[in-house]
Amino acid sequence: MNGSEKPAIGVIGVGWVGLVTAGCFAELGHPVVAMDVDQAKVELLRAGGTLPIHEPGLPELIDRNRERLRFTTEMVEPLDAARILFCCVDTPPTYSGDADLSRVEAVVGALPEGGGHALVMKSTVPAGTGAAIRRSNPELVYVSCPEFLKEGSAVRDFLEPDRVVIGSDPGAEWAADAVAAAYEPLGGRIVRTDVASAEMIKLASNAFLATKISFINEIANVCEGVGADVTEVARGMGLDPRIGNKFLQAGIGYGGSCFPKDTQALKQLAGNTGYHFQLLTSVIEVNELQKRRVIAKLSKHLGSLVDRKVALLGLAFKPDTDDMREASSLVLSARLQGEGATVVAYDPVAESRADQLLPSVELSETVGAAVAGADAAILVTEWPEFGELDWAELAGRMANPLIVDGRNFLDPGALRRAGFTYEGIGRPADGGEPVAGG
Ligand code: UGA
Repeated sequence: MNGSEKPAIGVIGVGWVGLVTAGCFAELGHPVVAMDVDQAKVELLRAGGTLPIHEPGLPELIDRNRERLRFTTEMVEPLDAARILFCCVDTPPTYSGDADLSRVEAVVGALPEGGGHALVMKSTVPAGTGAAIRRSNPELVYVSCPEFLKEGSAVRDFLEPDRVVIGSDPGAEWAADAVAAAYEPLGGRIVRTDVASAEMIKLASNAFLATKISFINEIANVCEGVGADVTEVARGMGLDPRIGNKFLQAGIGYGGSCFPKDTQALKQLAGNTGYHFQLLTSVIEVNELQKRRVIAKLSKHLGSLVDRKVALLGLAFKPDTDDMREASSLVLSARLQGEGATVVAYDPVAESRADQLLPSVELSETVGAAVAGADAAILVTEWPEFGELDWAELAGRMANPLIVDGRNFLDPGALRRAGFTYEGIGRPADGGEPVAGG
């Protein structure tokens, strides 16, 4: 390394977090060696074609920095090249609700003793994981640096962080300093703390955001009973800076690879320490019920759903991603089919994933084809293109122009003028009795 070069960085696991981390550190001028056990994925990344994930800005970022980025399946390569190794492997939930740490353990097991490396944990792990790893590997230099990026805006979130949390315990200061130096050019507030607190900051942040969503969803459900509009309520609440206007969009519940998993993991973690986390338990339950309330909204207008055709607009758990992990569309389509309905769907990008995850759902190439002859449409994901459709033309294609706007994304007045019966979430509805219960 000459004086002007930045130190090399190793990235272990090139899923969403790993690929963004690798690309962004390369963009900052670090040589990056990114390792993954998935040979097909590594070959794809080396070949420079379509990325394995859909993330705005990421293909350009990776292309621009190719000369500083190396992808490999061999652990020895990042070990040879770098002292700082970011661990970005996934930690999916197990049947018990605990996080599955087997991939993290495999990474720890592959580190040579006394190699002068530091493991920087980006994967979301239960609080206490760092301490447990250190107990069985006392020589290991360990830093916790949880990731706060959001899918769909991951590159921007990485490059413009509101905070960077770095947890280290005595003996690992040099590594924590190196991590802080790598993030320093980004200008975000750097929070230095101990490992256990850093781990808790991540879990508590996601649990709090999930709580905000379930809270506004319950307010929405009450709004439906009293004739209020939750979007107005959220607007009025959000102006109080103590509350803030973010994450107050009522809808058919949160999904994705993080909130469902992390809320469950924190609940489980609390339980394992003997504490029943009552509030979080309710947050999770409210989220489950929220998806199912859509069925009652349809039945209110259609009666039985047997042999009804229902079109799902959007399948991804949120716009600008093709990720369908824990997406509301999965529960909804299964519930609708359980009620005897036929389900068709359209999503601008999640189609290839949907093919595997929803084999019994007919996928359409366009919104027009999806709603043709349908008895109802449900807007599941607020893709921007849904705001620009000719709804009057679409109403004419449907057997019954009923729409449930699961994200309060559309203009109810415009939809009604286009001929639709409109149902939002927590907004004054057309006809029938309010949806009761959960
Ligand atoms: C979330 C956090 O926002 C990130 O800070 C965190 O780093 C990430 O998890 C993680 O742990 O890796 P993400 O799951 O990508 O990010 O997506 P969000 O934009 O937070 O949305 C999550 C879900 O909540 C989506 O289904 C979205 O539709 C829903 N949501 C969000 C609402 O229903 N209402 C809202 O007001 C906001």
